[in-house]
Amino acid sequence: MFLSNLVFVLATNTMVRSAALPTQTRVTLQAFLADGSIRESTIKRDDQMLATLNTINSQADAAKILDANFLNFNSSVDLDVQRKSQLLQGWKDAVTLAFVTFNEGQYGHPPFSDYFALSDGQNVRETFYDVWNGDGDVGSRHLRAQIFDNRDYAAQCKQAGNFTSVVLAYTATFIVDGGTIARTHVCDEGYKLPALSKVTCNSLGDTVSNKMDILGGILLQQWIHFDAIGKDNMGRHVGDVPNGYGPANVRELLPTDQAKNAANYRWFALETFWRVTCKRTFADPRISTESKIDL
Ligand SMILES: *[C@@H]1O[C@H](CO)[C@@H](O)[C@H](O)[C@H]1NC(C)=O
Ligand SMILES: *[C@@H]1O[C@H](CO)[C@@H](O)[C@H](O)[C@H]1NC(C)=O
Repeated sequence: MFLSNLVFVLATNTMVRSAALPTQTRVTLQAFLADGSIRESTIKRDDQMLATLNTINSQADAAKILDANFLNFNSSVDLDVQRKSQLLQGWKDAVTLAFVTFNEGQYGHPPFSDYFALSDGQNVRETFYDVWNGDGDVGSRHLRAQIFDNRDYAAQCKQAGNFTSVVLAYTATFIVDGGTIARTHVCDEGYKLPALSKVTCNSLGDTVSNKMDILGGILLQQWIHFDAIGKDNMGRHVGDVPNGYGPANVRELLPTDQAKNAANYRWFALETFWRVTCKRTFADPRISTESKIDL
C-alpha cells in the first residue's frame, strides 16, 4: 500500500522535468556484523539516493532487477563484475528462502514455535509471501527499492577494528513519502558469505548454527524491515531488538519481542530451508561461551 503511493508520487515527478526530489522523512544506517549483531546510527539526507530512486521508478516496467539497482560497479573491472553477480545470486537466494519458508514452513509447531508465538503464524507466513509474491526468483516489486552501492559510502567497513566483530555489510534505509528504499554496501568480509548452492548438507553439522547462513540471509533480514513487507503484515515496523541476533539468542527473546525482530525471520527461514533441503532436523543451537553462538 505504501509503496504504491510512492510509485505514484515518483511517476508524477518524472513527468515534470524540474520536479523536486521526494521528501525523505527518516534515515537509519544499520551495519551487519559477523557475529550476527546490528550496529545502528543515523545519516543525513541523501539526494543521490533519491535521484536513483526516481530513475528506478521511471523504469518500473522493465525487468525487476535493473542496472540502476547497482551503483558504482565498473563492468571493466573483473572484481566488480564478480561481486555484482554474487549480489544478484544473493538476491535470488533470499527470495528462494522466502518462497520455501512460505510454502513449506511449519507454522503450527516447532521450528516455528522456537522463533515466534504460535498466534503470529499466519501473519509471519504472509510476510514471507510478500518478499516472494509468487514471482519467480526476483521477488516482489517492493524489492525494487533495494540498491547496492559498490563504494564504502559511509566508511563503515573500515571501522571494523573498533568493534568486537567485523562488518559484513551495511544498509541505509530511507523512509521516503511513506515507502522504503535501502542502499546497501557489502564489505570485503560479506562477500565471503556463500551462495545457497555452495552450502552442502554435510557441511552443516547437527545443530542450528551460523554454518547455515548465506549472503542472502542478510538481504532477507533487511527486506523484513521494509514496511510494505514487514509492517503491512505484522501491524508494526519490524526492527531489531537489542541482543536479538544469532539463532540461539533470537529463540530466547520474549514471545512479544520475537515478531518485532527481523533476525527471527532470518533464522526461521534458514532452519526451514535446510530442514527441507537436507530432509532432516537439526538440534537446538548451542551457546558457546566465547562467541555466544555456535560458529
Ligand atoms: C572502469 O574501469 C576502467 C578499467 O580499469 C577504467 O579505465 C575506467 O575509468 C573505469 N570507469 C569508471 C567510471 O570508473
Ligand atoms: C576507532 O578507533 C580509533 C583509534 O582507536 C579512534 O581514533 C576512532 O575515533 C574510533 N572510531 C569510532 C567510531 O569509535
